[in-house]
Amino acid sequence: MKRIFSGAQPTGNVHLGNYLGALRNWVSLQHEYESFFCIVNLHAITTRQDPALLAQKTKELAQIYLAVGIDPELSTIFIQSDVAEHAELTWILNCVARMSELERMTQFKDKAKKQRENVGVGMFDYPVLMAADILLYQTDLVPVGEDQKQHLELTRDLAIRFNRDYGDTFRIPEPYIPKVGARIMSLSDPAKKMSKSDDDPNGCVMLLDDADSIQRKFKRAVTDSGTTIRFDESRPAIANLLTIFQLLTGKSPEQIEDHFAAKGYAQLKQELADVTVEFLKPFQERVRATTDEELSRLLEKGRDKARQIARVTLETAMARMGISGARELAGLAARI
Ligand code: TYM
Repeated sequence: MKRIFSGAQPTGNVHLGNYLGALRNWVSLQHEYESFFCIVNLHAITTRQDPALLAQKTKELAQIYLAVGIDPELSTIFIQSDVAEHAELTWILNCVARMSELERMTQFKDKAKKQRENVGVGMFDYPVLMAADILLYQTDLVPVGEDQKQHLELTRDLAIRFNRDYGDTFRIPEPYIPKVGARIMSLSDPAKKMSKSDDDPNGCVMLLDDADSIQRKFKRAVTDSGTTIRFDESRPAIANLLTIFQLLTGKSPEQIEDHFAAKGYAQLKQELADVTVEFLKPFQERVRATTDEELSRLLEKGRDKARQIARVTLETAMARMGISGARELAGLAARI
């Protein structure tokens, strides 16, 4: 069975963009692939986090994975820092990656612009940690939103380089970026992607927002000076609202355009808010349904399963590089 790996950061709140661009696809793909879904708390600490809040958000993200429909019987859910191999392989890949390729990462450049002198080494190295996440599991496919595409290309480059220099070790992963929903835009600025770090909180609908906030955010959503409601890339604000509507209702673009043919923007926003509230209601009930005991049992099971696979890959990579130490002396390298 082919394998998928993906993850999300336990920082802030999970929003509609995360769901429609990534988590939603994890849920459908888990039936066809052996699946690993990670809570990437080591990525989270590349920006300063409040420790108590980070611990709470880590647990909440596990609850969200379950509530959106990740089935722990089918998929492995685990916390990144529980599997030390992620940090270990990052070091090895750091010695394969080049400064110049990390300097080209647009997400780093954007974040660095905001922080200037205080850019951490961890933030610079973020894509290498992400490559380690993926490569440890001999991943075939990585379902992500469009903003992660460049990181996936780097992951492939590092794997290819390592394999070339030290011998075949890593499977080369492919990105899985959905045709619809790969880049959900901010409701307050359709030129920017929906993001939890958006300066304007009205631009971003959180999965755990209450009904009033959802109604308010859609009501304030930016539109344009037109009147017709059509899927038209050149009118990004309306196209974005319609894309969200399409993904939440499962209707086709033609059905949606027919439905709104004689209606105005206010009605589109109202119906979209109602659809979102209805969609999130059962999800929000499920988030609170798991007990702490269930959750820790599940995360321990996930950790053990993940470790087994991660260990084999890491030891292979170490042996290939000649850094297996005592194990190598015991002849392990010869067996790989
Ligand atoms: P994160 O936590 O920022 O986002 C989680 C997922 O949501 C997608 N996403 C979006 N999709 C559509 N529209 C948007 N506006 C939008 N905003 C976010 C992201 O593309 C992502 O798929 N670096 C990753 C986490 C990570 C990872 C990995 C992912 C770490 N290691 C290994 C895959 C494989 C991140 O920060 O995601």
